[in-house]
Amino acid sequence: MEAAMELRSSQWYAGEDRNGYIHRAWMRRGVPDDAFRGRPQIAIANTAGDLTPCNAHLTGVAQFVKNGILEAGGVPLELPVMSLGETNVRPTAMLWRNLAAMGVEEMLRANPVDGVVLLGGCDKTIPSLLMGAASVDIPAVVVPGGPMLNGSFRGERLGCGTGVWRLSEEVRAGTLSQEDFTRSEAAMIRSAGHCNTMGTASTMALVAEALGTVVPGVAGTPAADARLNEAAQLTGRLVVDLVAAGRTPSSYLTAGSFHNAIVALAAIGGSTNAVVHLLAIAGRLGIDLSVEDFDRIGAQVPLLVDLQPAGRHLMEDLHRAGGLLAVLREVEDLLDPTALTVTGRPLVEHLEPARIWDPEVITPRRAPLQEDAGIALLRGNLAPDGAIIKPAAASPELLQHRGRALVFDSIEDFHARIDDPALEVDASTVLILRGCGPRGYPGMPEVSNMPLPPKLLAQGVRDMVRICDGRMSGTAYGTVVLHVAPEAAAGGPLGLVRTGDMIVLDVPGRRLEVELDAEELAARTPPAAMTEALAAPRRGWERLYIDHVQQADTGADLDFLVGSSGSEVPRESH
Ligand code: FES
Repeated sequence: MEAAMELRSSQWYAGEDRNGYIHRAWMRRGVPDDAFRGRPQIAIANTAGDLTPCNAHLTGVAQFVKNGILEAGGVPLELPVMSLGETNVRPTAMLWRNLAAMGVEEMLRANPVDGVVLLGGCDKTIPSLLMGAASVDIPAVVVPGGPMLNGSFRGERLGCGTGVWRLSEEVRAGTLSQEDFTRSEAAMIRSAGHCNTMGTASTMALVAEALGTVVPGVAGTPAADARLNEAAQLTGRLVVDLVAAGRTPSSYLTAGSFHNAIVALAAIGGSTNAVVHLLAIAGRLGIDLSVEDFDRIGAQVPLLVDLQPAGRHLMEDLHRAGGLLAVLREVEDLLDPTALTVTGRPLVEHLEPARIWDPEVITPRRAPLQEDAGIALLRGNLAPDGAIIKPAAASPELLQHRGRALVFDSIEDFHARIDDPALEVDASTVLILRGCGPRGYPGMPEVSNMPLPPKLLAQGVRDMVRICDGRMSGTAYGTVVLHVAPEAAAGGPLGLVRTGDMIVLDVPGRRLEVELDAEELAARTPPAAMTEALAAPRRGWERLYIDHVQQADTGADLDFLVGSSGSEVPRESH
């Protein structure tokens, strides 16, 4: 239920006493007095930064947001927030997602703001912005920074990430010179924006729109497209209306919104990382979303978008072909018709004008790229709390498989042994990598799609069953079981498997088992390295993270960050 909101900022600025004076005077600096007399104060939470190149253009986008806020009578206030550059931040940007979310939450709560526009792009930035804003529950709208323009090299389309893997293989094969390889860097990344494949950044922008937190039709607009600036300006105006209407995230982010996000995730063939992000956002809102919901809702959704890494095209093509709304119009019957958006209208009401302009990029429902494209949830004695697999990215012949385990205790162990010609491995072997979950490798890195042993590659093997408690890059694919919970470092049975055990993967039956009975498993102890890693001396954020991070099946948020702190104004100190 929406209710007109008394301006939160008035608790700083209203009144003629000493405190009102202090709050106004320090903000004035040339700003007229009336800026603080009943006008909504709108923060622009900006993740721009030179070390987050995918978001570097957002300061320019913020200017258009400011214009819109001013036009609607609000006061724009840029709020720089922690920014995570996926390619730069080590050991993995995911280690800092919850810290960034905590920073957004605390700064929105601590400051005199009534609403917020969230500017994000690179993988973790939109999830962390949404988590933080959801916990404060003040009116919030996302402006996704948009993908970069299509890359092209030597006449061929070159997508971020996916293109690097292909060209580096060519160098190793001697068909591409080192000089040309270096030259291709600038051909791949030729404009502002985030990765242009259907990786995590593209996925989260589109999923944020399906959730209802972006003005419908905006997500996926390329960063270099002038229409993004126009959308930013209109969003600036809109958020002022949201404040007037008291339309907060808890009024438009409902179970139905997450239902629609899961449908979108399957139809676009989005990144598996969206699972942990959506679970974490739902957790901030007290919405009972579980990993089972991804399987249940996504199971009958067809794949309609032909984008790299699994397909051919890039985000600029998707936008030209009609964008997310054209995709969702094809699966409208699967959407929750009641789920609202920031416009105050249901998402489905925005679909009517959408059309598919290029069926090579967005295939119609009658001819999907794949039936049943959702993420599958597996359970069994190897994953009591679940593990996920993206069947659309797997080899059909491996979806039911029984094979001997080859176990690696860390990514370092894996790299030290995988190239050994004497390694006992064949195409039926199941590669297991553990110690890579949220606690075991703080941050849960994207290492699950392990490279195959060179001697099998030489035999023509291109996919094997792989199992890991870590994550997988949105630009990767293969028969990879990931997010195994509980992780090995948290005492999960993945830590008890030994090389030589027989593993059963049955995706149609939703099973993941090791052929050992409960007594045999209970009698085993995990390798000392698993528990020693947790006890190793650490300080700062990493210490806090290891002690409080939850498992992947609930979104890998910190236990004390789940839920909402609300927008209550902290007490005065003057
Ligand atoms: Fe930023 Fe890919 S590195 S989106």
